[in-house]
Amino acid sequence: MEAVAEPRRVQTLVDAGISRLPSRYIQPLELRPDPRRCGIDVGGIPVIDLSLSAGDPVPAIACASRDWGAFQVVNHGVSSRLLEEMKSVGSSFFSSPMEAKLRFACDPRSPASEGYGSRMLSNDDGVLDWRDYFDHHTLPVSRRNPSRWPDFPTNYRDTILEYSDGIKKLAQTLLHMISQSVGLPPSYIEDAVGEVYQNITVSYYPPCPQPELALGLQSHSDMGAITLLIQDDVPGLEVLKDDEWAVVHPLSGAIVVILSDQTEVITNGQYKSAVHRAIVNDHRPRLSVAAFYDPSKTRKIYPAPQLVTKNSPRKYREVLYGDYVSSWYSKGPEGKRNIDALLI
Ligand code: OGA
Ligand code: NI
Repeated sequence: MEAVAEPRRVQTLVDAGISRLPSRYIQPLELRPDPRRCGIDVGGIPVIDLSLSAGDPVPAIACASRDWGAFQVVNHGVSSRLLEEMKSVGSSFFSSPMEAKLRFACDPRSPASEGYGSRMLSNDDGVLDWRDYFDHHTLPVSRRNPSRWPDFPTNYRDTILEYSDGIKKLAQTLLHMISQSVGLPPSYIEDAVGEVYQNITVSYYPPCPQPELALGLQSHSDMGAITLLIQDDVPGLEVLKDDEWAVVHPLSGAIVVILSDQTEVITNGQYKSAVHRAIVNDHRPRLSVAAFYDPSKTRKIYPAPQLVTKNSPRKYREVLYGDYVSSWYSKGPEGKRNIDALLI
């Protein structure tokens, strides 16, 4: 078997003390974050209170889903103790010595393999993201193999397990509300997705010597049904709205909800998946934890027949989710070109 060189982690470059960005990480001019707008508040995505006393959240979810494809939720029922513990074990892993981290390296030959990595695509000859990550396969339970997850700090594996279960429940509650908000039965999207495939990705964005030239994560929409993300107190996540990048302000205890491509297909385009990206800075590392709620690869996804009418004709072709994923990994994530290929 041909030996495959272990690809670099961004952390290695930072530890080596580089002061200029290596060319592989320099974004073309038109994709760089706009330095004039850096740090300017253009208003954030909506924040929705899910506590019973706040009243019915469905109308607010309808608005936010239609206008932004993303929102934050508070009083969502996942304890802040668990959110903090999840970020804390992630952060301990990334601040551990490289040697210890590489014991859990992902397989550089196969895309989306579990473990510690940096490059998303195996045949990646484009511009690289200024990001390292750890990807965990957490659901269905048959995909779970905690021995592939870090064993330090000692509560790492238990925290992932608890987080996986807690966030799955919240994702299902949100999918119920999203279904209701377009007039579908509450369990419609959950049933259309079938057995959930959940991946949890901890992303670590080290300080970048020339942040105005780089992106932590290039512009994309997520490929599954819904993504729930938590972040530390360092801003960096941005959502595209009316051709402007809006900062997703870190809000203690909040969870960011991002509608993904299959929800766009199932709602026949009533809701669009949110195009988002992560920018970096030169003084503080940033950590986020994304939980992806995806269909199985054998699932066929298509617009809900109830939402296809004379006035709103069918917009997307049926797709086998596994084919969608393969195409995503061969074309790369840029913008929305993957879902655009399904347009009728
Ligand atoms: C992702 C993602 C954003 C972030 O992992 O798909 O969009 O802030 N992450 O890390
Ligand atoms: Ni994303």
